Amino acid sequence: MKQKVINLLSQYINELTPQEIDSIIEIPPKSEMGDFAFPCFRLAKTFRKAPPLIAQELKERIQTPDFLNRIEVQGGYLNFFVDKSSFAKQIVDNYFNSANYGGSNEGDGKTICIDYSSPNVAKNFHVGHLRTTIIGNSLYKIFAKLGYHVVRINHLGDWGTQFGKLIVAYKKWGSKEAVEKNGISELMSIYVKFHEEAEKDDTLNDEARAWFTKMEHGDEEALSIWKWFREISLKEFLRVYDMLHIEFDSYAGESFYNDIMAAVIEELKEKNLITVSDGAQIVNLDEYNMPPCLITKKDGSSLYATRDITAALYRKNTYNFSKCLYVTGLEQKLHFAQWFTVIGMMGYDWNKDLVHVPYGLVSLKGGKLSTRKGNIIYAEDILKESIQKIRNIISEKNPDLPDKETVAQQVGIGAIIFNDLYNQRIKDVVFDWDKILNFDGETGPYVQYTYARAASVLRKIGDIPKVIDYKLLTDEASIALLKEISRYADVVKDAAEKYEPFIISRYAIAVAQAFNKFYHDCQINVDDETLKYTRANIVYITKEILKDALSLLGISCPEQM
Ligand code: ARG
Repeated sequence: MKQKVINLLSQYINELTPQEIDSIIEIPPKSEMGDFAFPCFRLAKTFRKAPPLIAQELKERIQTPDFLNRIEVQGGYLNFFVDKSSFAKQIVDNYFNSANYGGSNEGDGKTICIDYSSPNVAKNFHVGHLRTTIIGNSLYKIFAKLGYHVVRINHLGDWGTQFGKLIVAYKKWGSKEAVEKNGISELMSIYVKFHEEAEKDDTLNDEARAWFTKMEHGDEEALSIWKWFREISLKEFLRVYDMLHIEFDSYAGESFYNDIMAAVIEELKEKNLITVSDGAQIVNLDEYNMPPCLITKKDGSSLYATRDITAALYRKNTYNFSKCLYVTGLEQKLHFAQWFTVIGMMGYDWNKDLVHVPYGLVSLKGGKLSTRKGNIIYAEDILKESIQKIRNIISEKNPDLPDKETVAQQVGIGAIIFNDLYNQRIKDVVFDWDKILNFDGETGPYVQYTYARAASVLRKIGDIPKVIDYKLLTDEASIALLKEISRYADVVKDAAEKYEPFIISRYAIAVAQAFNKFYHDCQINVDDETLKYTRANIVYITKEILKDALSLLGISCPEQM
């Protein structure tokens, strides 16, 4: 509609380009002032006339087209009142004519790599990793909706000196049975034991380094223990991914790059970027006001950054990405800034396409989350607790609900995801169960409940022909809902540009609220068939959009709640 107003105005104002008109047009704060306003102040100089006079003259010249109800002059403004039924028609037609409403093909032919989740082998999958998993998955869905080919990469933390320590600890204090039985928690506890003992006996550290060096050189025994730890860990990670219905295209973790790292270090040397400092090889970043990027330690072993640089080169070659995103906590900001710079120094201008997508911390309100040993909060426990709480609510409020267990899973998981994605990534996430699970708040359950309500209305009506009388959609609640519906594509685009899923979650809330107002104001299942089907079509569109928006967050919708 705005574009139509711009086109109309440019027919009458040669002094301004359509782009200029676009930047001048305003959306008035109140609906009495129209849907669009064109301030004439910019034209005063050119026309040597007072703005109200310019507005008046324009009004007299412009022939009111069908899509406008009327044009009014208010002071120096020309106010446009859109014809509500043509507006309604345009939105509804637009919806039914597009195969991927809200999406686009801007990403056709382009690939985006998203590196997310990436937990560390032999360490628990904690709530921080839950955030990267949820945010990364949502970004994947958002970019896929815009037509991008997305490669979902789980850059497992499965390499590094800590595995030398684990092998030493396992050989000294571990047992096969205990690891098999308790998995990651056993590995964590022997790891803790290692650090306690190494405080007293530094030779343990030398042993650990030696084992990692063995790993880097392909020693069979070292690698088989390491591989086993990796499998045990992955099995636990997969439990979380299954609960969230999340998949990856690649599990090429840090270890994957072991064989090709040497060539990259060689390239760094050839390009004269390496300085040796105290036996270690570093890239000096003084010029960029950053501490040096560490490439190898004194004993020759590689580091986190070495593997990231190697992985980036590998991904560029393999996928030829137009962007590669890295979703991690904010505390890794410097790490990414450093090695992105190193890639640039190597002469690769595509380092501008590497994007760190940071997020804030997780904190607990009241601190009453069930924790296992050592106050570590496992992602799996949080998800299970949420599902259990929903199960309890269902048995109390709606014990006869069909397929209760699936609903409890969808709502319990949805609540956690929605809470995570409700604010800007960088904000901390607070776990406050009363808020997260509030069916009347701005929550996942609220949006899902709204969806289920729409689904239930439609079930009662049965088949819905596309009988729509647009004049019946001009009341305030219908128009407000249609306005929300019309925003979807802009919202998705904006969320992608900013790498911010919260833009989608806020939108889902806005649609749900507009729908609930519509549901309250406009009776749907009425005798008059035209009115009934007109409104039912709007219910249908809303329902589909809610489902789609939630799916972009990684949340699925029960038909009944
Ligand atoms: N494993 C790391 C961690 O848990 C995250 C890895 C992120 N991705 C990367 N390419 N550095 O903190």
